[in-house]
Amino acid sequence: MRILVTGKNGQLGRSIYKIVNTANGDNLSPNEFIFVGREELDLSSEGSISHYFDSNDRFDVIINCAAYTAVDKAEEEQELANQINHLAVKQLAEIVKAQKAKLIHISTDYVFDGESDKAYVETDETSPINAYGKTKLAGEQALKEIMPTDAIIIRTSWVYSEYGNNFVSTMLRLGKERDELNVVSDQIGSPTYATDLAGVILEIIKSKEFREENQTTQIYHYSNKGEISWYEFAKEIFKIEEVDCKVSPITTEQYPMPAKRPKSTLIDKEKIVEKFGIKTSYWKEALCSCINNIENKI
Ligand SMILES: NC(=O)c1ccc[n+]([C@@H]2O[C@H](COP(=O)([O-])OP(=O)(O)OC[C@H]3O[C@@H](n4cnc5c(N)ncnc54)[C@H](OP(=O)(O)O)[C@@H]3O)[C@@H](O)[C@H]2O)c1
Repeated sequence: MRILVTGKNGQLGRSIYKIVNTANGDNLSPNEFIFVGREELDLSSEGSISHYFDSNDRFDVIINCAAYTAVDKAEEEQELANQINHLAVKQLAEIVKAQKAKLIHISTDYVFDGESDKAYVETDETSPINAYGKTKLAGEQALKEIMPTDAIIIRTSWVYSEYGNNFVSTMLRLGKERDELNVVSDQIGSPTYATDLAGVILEIIKSKEFREENQTTQIYHYSNKGEISWYEFAKEIFKIEEVDCKVSPITTEQYPMPAKRPKSTLIDKEKIVEKFGIKTSYWKEALCSCINNIENKI
């Protein structure tokens, strides 16, 4: 197989790379993967996308991990966010369809407004409240329209990893710089360790169900198990790392940001678990693994 992974420098792209290049006894070989970043395939440019695929052989699977993920900046860069999260996804879907290949695309819990008191299932009504969520939803919709079969959309939430800037690395840095921190306690969700999501994507690719042709395009939800606020997340990070920093809960109102955040975006994982027999760990367990894997803890 020829499997293309976009976003090679991002959290998920790097996590897939690491598993592919360290797992043994696995039946996916590193030789089957091609990892690209914006240098090779710039999703902000229609011309760059066409050029990349025109000058490379056909792929069997494309995993789209690249995205415009700066939630606050997206409010002022809506056109760019829309190009990367929507129009580029549409173009990728057209190319994948023409190549008779399969597409795995990653989306977000921010397609929901966060007003539900239950975990969202895949068929629940979407209603994004910020520009990032709107562009990601537009990407999902374009993908489904162009590829009614042979694609998978995985919506995930609160992604962190040992790579780059994310909530865990930010808390570890701030916790060591300060004696006290205020963290929002009225936004609820489920964190996702990028390595766990990467493992799920690779499990899906290896599955018989995925390899069958003309399967109706599906949306799946995936995160680690459990539900917490950012405040509880920060407290646990400091507990694991024995960081001596007092954490106090504050409300979203007390911490104004350019983009609105949904209040509660718990996502129900039953569909992906049933379909692919996915086993997933609880958020605390996943967080411990991530912290163990961070090389320089600042
Ligand atoms: N992070 C979260 O909390 C979260 C939550 C829910 C869903 N998701 C979704 O999960 C997926 C993976 O997220 P992540 O956390 O791995 O994101 P990430 O770490 O921000 O990585 C995104 C990658 O996309 C690349 N990218 C941005 N603009 C590009 C362009 N014009 N052309 C090509 N590549 C471009 C970035 O490249 P550079 O490295 O060069 O900037 C980066 O490597 C995304 O679809 C995201 O929307 C993320």
